[in-house]
Amino acid sequence: MIILGIETSCDDTAASLVSEGTEILSSVVSSQIEVHHPYGGIVPELASRKHIEAIDYVVNDAIKKSGISLNRIDAVAVTQGPGLVGSLLVGFCFAKGFAYALDRPCVCVNHLEGHINSVFLTSDPPPFPFVALLVSGGHTSIYHVKSYTESDLMGQTRDDAAGEAFDKVSKMLGLGYPGGIVIDRLAKKGNSQSIRFPRSYLDKSKFDFSFSGIKTSVNRYIQTHGDISKEQIPDIAASFQEAVIDVLTYKIITAANKKKCRHIAVVGGVAANSRLRARLLKDASAEGFHVHIPPMDLCGDNAAMIAATGYHYMVKGITSDINQDVYSRSKNS
Ligand SMILES: Nc1ncnc2c1ncn2[C@@H]1O[C@H](COP(=O)(O)OP(=O)(O)OP(=O)(O)O)[C@@H](O)[C@H]1O
Ligand SMILES: [Mg+2]
Repeated sequence: MIILGIETSCDDTAASLVSEGTEILSSVVSSQIEVHHPYGGIVPELASRKHIEAIDYVVNDAIKKSGISLNRIDAVAVTQGPGLVGSLLVGFCFAKGFAYALDRPCVCVNHLEGHINSVFLTSDPPPFPFVALLVSGGHTSIYHVKSYTESDLMGQTRDDAAGEAFDKVSKMLGLGYPGGIVIDRLAKKGNSQSIRFPRSYLDKSKFDFSFSGIKTSVNRYIQTHGDISKEQIPDIAASFQEAVIDVLTYKIITAANKKKCRHIAVVGGVAANSRLRARLLKDASAEGFHVHIPPMDLCGDNAAMIAATGYHYMVKGITSDINQDVYSRSKNS
């Protein structure tokens, strides 16, 4: 079964063709970073407009690159939410129209479920059940994943997402947007033990997170130390990053122990962080866990994860009604 996936929940216009929920035939992602960069964050209205400009080209490019003719597409899977409503609507309306014109079913997909299923597009997928750390720009959550379409939320952030904290700290340090990748790069040159930023574990036996405190703490450090020199920035970046990673690593290992799962998946944009990947592979592997992290291009937003998730709904015979609408927040997000 071949699924065309479409994703426009935030600032990436993406389309992909995936065969049997595992084999990526093509994956095209058109980023809007340059549009939002001058504003230091995503401007929703600009994001919607850019999606409108890009969607037709991106979908056609994905189809062309896959080498698949239109009549071989079995269904169109599209992100329904959570995300920016204006952005979501562009991909959603396009997908509905495309599916209708092809006379194929349309499958609505939850973006977060898509991130979790990105781990099945790798050569080393985890067996069920496993625990997943979803760590992205808008979410930081832990799930007990029971099947491709069923997972229980074990905990989530009570305030900011980890990715959001990376982006805000980058802005405070004058490093621009998006911040995760810049902090990741600079942290390699810094000493992660130089500043002791707080680790917010909340209740250590539970799986909720809080990242607003560390943001404030970095801000206060910058303010109280007056002129921060260029040389100090790598130390601040490394110390901040290490504090976030300590919490993420502790919580996901504790969750895996609680659920007696030997397999841990880490997905979402922040899963691209080189230090997080290294720490989890080291710490979790040392405790006997098998850690599954998708390659970089499947960590951030992409449509292959949406197509893969749509495939599993199709296998279950679940398709969506044409009257469905997008949603900005899901019950569990
Ligand atoms: N190497 C990295 N280190 C840390 N953070 C990173 C890295 N690369 C990307 N990020 C962060 O990942 C986030 C983007 O991830 P993603 O695209 O999955 O989020 P989103 O789609 O905006 O949010 P959500 O999936 O929660 O709706 C940004 O906050 C970005 O700073
Ligand atoms: Mg995302």
